[in-house]
Formats: sequence, structure tokens, C-alpha cells
Amino acid sequence: SIDVSTLTRQTGLTALDYGFVNTSSTRSAITYIDGEQGILRYRGYPIEELAEHSTYLEVAWLLMYGELPTADQLGEFDEKIRRHTLLHEDLKRFFSALPHTAHPMAVLSSAVAALSTYYEDSSDPHDPDHVELTTIRLLAKMPVIAAYAHKKSIGQAFLYPDNSLNFVENFLRLNFGNMAEPYHIDPTLAKALDRLLILHEDHEQNASTSTVRLVGSTGANLYASISAGIQALSGPLHGGANEAVLQMLAQIRDSGEGVGKFVERVKRKEDGVKLMGFGHRVYKNYDPRAKIVKTSADAVLEGLGVNDPLLDIAKELEQFALEDDYFKQRRLYPNVDFYTGVIYKAMGFPTRMFTVLFAIGRLPGWIAHWREMNLDGGTKIGRPQQLYTGSPERHYPMH
Ligand code: ACO
Repeated sequence: SIDVSTLTRQTGLTALDYGFVNTSSTRSAITYIDGEQGILRYRGYPIEELAEHSTYLEVAWLLMYGELPTADQLGEFDEKIRRHTLLHEDLKRFFSALPHTAHPMAVLSSAVAALSTYYEDSSDPHDPDHVELTTIRLLAKMPVIAAYAHKKSIGQAFLYPDNSLNFVENFLRLNFGNMAEPYHIDPTLAKALDRLLILHEDHEQNASTSTVRLVGSTGANLYASISAGIQALSGPLHGGANEAVLQMLAQIRDSGEGVGKFVERVKRKEDGVKLMGFGHRVYKNYDPRAKIVKTSADAVLEGLGVNDPLLDIAKELEQFALEDDYFKQRRLYPNVDFYTGVIYKAMGFPTRMFTVLFAIGRLPGWIAHWREMNLDGGTKIGRPQQLYTGSPERHYPMH
């Protein structure tokens, strides 16, 4: 690789790279991907091993600090997060001011931005103690905000966090519990959600992480950077794909057109229709996360006692696509979003919450990248070049 900033200074040449297909914006020691082989590792550990044996909070620590925590470190981290789950009471008025029809991703992003108005407790957003506290606050409060967004969208009362519960249990209770009766944690559900969150924790320089880095490179604080990352994630070509996949599967079921006819429409690019949950900028092989999600989908649905015909449609669709030349030639495989929606639905989450779950999963990765850039690496403001294609100089008409 070459350092193009030196080359540009010396020669005046710039590279035009739509979508940054071939431009590295940074060095990073957090996540390794080999898209040809379908390999994903966090800090060197294969995703398969972490998904099988670790927990969301342990992986969050690994991503942010570079090593697996000791039992004491993890215990202390968990304890701190439990102590910071409460939101400022005034935020209730913030939530009530938003329409109940608001998309939960928009609520999440706005509320995370609003957190910076409550916690402007350092004039230096890069002060290491402040960054530690902000990291804990975000990890503790974002799931509570997400659950508030969910409750608001279904017209139910918000619950306060119960800090005797662990991260995932607390989140499940905030979403599915109610004021009238105690909430019983289903261990199958908690384990499955924890695993899905692990799979989403980082994915190197994807669009939302690059957004977090770009915003953070200006010196903006962590809340502002994460809020922007959430917005970037919301698009259907990125995290919003998990919501779009479920809509696509439901549409295939409801229209009765059949999987084959739908695939034909995709191949003809009719009205720009795509096979959502398929294809990836980096993976030109099966996404290793999708492999794990697919193998656990049957078990999770069975464990939850759910039989969803959408899972059968998804499997049929995948089989059809993998055998088709259009998809083979373009090396399009299922990505992480293809099967997650069916599982989230079985867990009881409404479709509009799916990308919010992705955001909670991705939060430690976003924070790890912001920290790597600001605390370890030294910041250089992100500022792409352009090739100007507009009018040459002309003059304002004098009448
Ligand atoms: N369905 C049908 N055709 C597709 C799909 C798809 N899902 N994805 C790519 N293609 C086609 C493109 O039309 C293009 O065809 P062409 O050569 O005839 O023009 C070719 O495959 C190459 O695709 P690009 O769009 O150039 O690939 P790019 O790397 O820019 O896009 C992306 C990657 C955005 C993920 C794309 O595959 C896509 O839109 N997939 C569907 C949305 C999706 O699932 N997004 C989630 C991504 S994973 C994540 O963010 C967690």
C-alpha cells in the first residue's frame, strides 16, 4: 500500500474511488476480515469462538481494550454499567415530545445526541477519564433508550431498569416486561440475543463506523459521533437491511408470487428490486456471521416454540439464489442481516426495532474505533477530495 497523502502533495494527483472501494482511511488493530475466505476475527479471536463461548460485555471489553478481561475486570465493568443505566428524568419529556409513530432508530439517534446535553462534564472530549465515563454511560443507557423507543411505539408505560439483572436480561425485561407482573427471563431467549449482539459488535470500516470516525475526527465528542453512526446504520443498504429482509419475505408470502418469480424480478433489476440481506462489499464468500445465525435460527425458533413460515421462505430463497448464475457470477451470498430478522421476530421484537438491535450490538465497535483514533492514534481530520465537474468561472449578470 502507498500513503497517498504524500503522493498527492508531491504530484497533485488524486484517486477517484466511488464508495471507497479501494481506499484505506486508517490503520486499525481491532478487527480482521478476509472477504475471500469468509473470515472474521475480533482482536485475533475467531468470531465463531467468541459467539460460542463469550458474552456481549466481555467482547465489548476485548474490542475496546485489546485483550480479554480478567474475571475481576469483567465483574467491575459489568457492575459499573449496571450502576449507570438510569436516564435523567427530564428525558421522559424529550420522549413524550416525539410522535409515537417515530421510527425507533430516529428516536435512538436523537436521544443519544441529547445525552451530550446532560453530560457535558468535561470541556475536553478526549480527557481519558471523561472518555471512560462516557463509554460506560453509552453502554448502560443506550439499551434503556432503545427499550423506551419500543415501549413508546406500542403505547406502553416505560419501565425502570432492574440492576439485579445482567445486561441482556435487563434489556429483555425493559422491552417485554410490564408494570403489572414480574417478568420471567427465558434463558434460551437471553442466550440467543447475547449471541446475536456479539456477532454485530464490530466489522471494521463499514459505513456507520466510518461515519463515527469521520465525525470524531473533527474533535466532536463520543455522543455526537455515535448519534451520527446510528443514522448511518439506519439505511437499508446497511443495518436497515434486517428490517427490509423481513418486509421482503412477508411480501413474497403475501403476494403468493413464489420465490422463483421474485428472484427473476431481482435479476431483471425490476424497479431496482434487490435480494435484501444478500451481497456485501467485503465478503465474496459466505458471511461467517450469517453462517452462525443460520445454524442457530432453527434451534432458537424451536427453543422459543415458534414456527414461522418466513424462515422456510428465507431458506428457499437462499437455495434458489446460491444455485443461480446471476448470484454466482457476482459472488453474492447471504450477509448477517438475512436470517437475523426471523429470529428477532420470534423473540417478539417488532420489525422496526431490528436495526436498533443491530445498533446496540455495534455500539462497542463504534466506541472502540473512536477510542483507537482519538486516544491511541492521534487524529487527522477526515476530509475527502473531489473532482470538480461543474461550470468554469462565470459572472453574475448585471442588469
Ligand atoms: N440483489 C441483487 N443484486 C445485487 C445485490 C442484491 N442484494 N447486491 C449486489 N447486487 C448486484 C449489483 O446490482 C451489481 O450488479 P451489476 O454488476 O450487474 O451492476 C453487482 O451485484 C455488484 O454490486 P454492488 O452494488 O456494486 O456492490 P457494493 O459492494 O457496492 O454493495 C451492498 C454492497 C450494498 C451490500 C449490496 O450488495 C446490497 O445492496 N445488498 C442488499 C442490501 C443489504 O443486504 N445490505 C446489508 C449489507 S451487510 C451490513 O451492512 C451489515
